[in-house]
Amino acid sequence: MFVIGSDHGGLELKEAVKAVLTSRGMNVTDFGTDNCGSVDYPDFAEKVAGAVSRGEAALGILVCGTGIGMSIVANKFPGVRAALATDEFMAQMAKEHNNANVLVLGGRVLSVDQATKMVNVWLDATFEGGRHQLRLDKIAKLEAAVRAGEL
Ligand code: RB5
Repeated sequence: MFVIGSDHGGLELKEAVKAVLTSRGMNVTDFGTDNCGSVDYPDFAEKVAGAVSRGEAALGILVCGTGIGMSIVANKFPGVRAALATDEFMAQMAKEHNNANVLVLGGRVLSVDQATKMVNVWLDATFEGGRHQLRLDKIAKLEAAVRAGEL
């Protein structure tokens, strides 16, 4: 399953991204928001990042005005590697080096065309593993240590 969500600042871009995903034949669960009324981005980041963290979804996309707030919240969830990307290179690296399982976009930063290219690049890229896996292992260890109150 693929999960997406946005606040009002990311609604328009989220809808465009959803169309990209469904045109690729992906099974998308949209956690909202679904109208332009002002909402709080942590509520939607919680739904998307929570689903990825619990293993209910393999991948997710979050969109707010800048992408900053969504990134901050999503990265609180164990096992979530949320990457805020602003161009195609960052989207590609987010998968190849960081194996990001959540891509975060700024609805007030990116055009639909830019975001479409970035989403496709992120989905088509492959995690390189090797030294990058060792770094992800370190992140997982840090996460566990923080949760255990050791750090
Ligand atoms: C909402 O106005 C805006 O603060 C939000 O979309 C996001 O940019 C926060 O990081």
